Amino acid sequence: MSPTLCIAKSMRLSCAKTRCPAIVRCLSTGSTSPSEQGSKKLKTLTKEQREYLSSALRVNQAGELAATLIYTAQTPPITNRHPHLRPLMSHMYEQEAAHLRTFNGLIHKHRVRPTALYPLWSVMATGLGWGTAVMGREAAMACTEAVETEIGGHYNAQIRELLEMITTWKQEGYDVGSEVEELVQTLRRIRDEELEHLDHAVEHDAKKAEPHWLLTNVIRAGCRGAIWASERV
Ligand SMILES: [Fe+2]
Ligand SMILES: [Fe+2]
Repeated sequence: MSPTLCIAKSMRLSCAKTRCPAIVRCLSTGSTSPSEQGSKKLKTLTKEQREYLSSALRVNQAGELAATLIYTAQTPPITNRHPHLRPLMSHMYEQEAAHLRTFNGLIHKHRVRPTALYPLWSVMATGLGWGTAVMGREAAMACTEAVETEIGGHYNAQIRELLEMITTWKQEGYDVGSEVEELVQTLRRIRDEELEHLDHAVEHDAKKAEPHWLLTNVIRAGCRGAIWASERV
């Protein structure tokens, strides 16, 4: 039987017994079974690990929604004044939309509830995108620079946490399901694309925004606050 890692706060029963009711979220490559798979023992996630994975998927989905809304709001003002930026804006939007589809799929698959702050983030992300775009091309790029700096660090922290979990499980002789390994690969790929956006922003004069330090520090603080809240609410 494929081992199953369950990340629902409400998890009470073993997913390895194939009972994953609607409220139970399963990351379906670990196991809660006390049996063995081959020569390797199977691992049960701790309550803290289940909660960590739930909140990680929830905040990532919220962040990617915000990213698509920022680019949606920025694109008309920016491309009207700077048509040569249309391919870049379109490219970054398409990558964000793909990230959102990935996390929409993951929270649906594992029955992780979306953040309750969805409406607030939607309004704030749209306002941030539109506001920086009307300030000009440099401010819009500074917004991307600030957001992607925080998001790149955010994904790196998640990757580190998961790799520590995997390393510990392996050292203890437990089997690590392929789905957890795949999640790490997904996070790495998305992290790399976010950092690519950061590079694009700097190449397109993000540092020339006025006042760059204020704009980027306010946006970065806002991102950290949104991440903190979305992990919990
Ligand atoms: Fe993204
Ligand atoms: Fe991005």
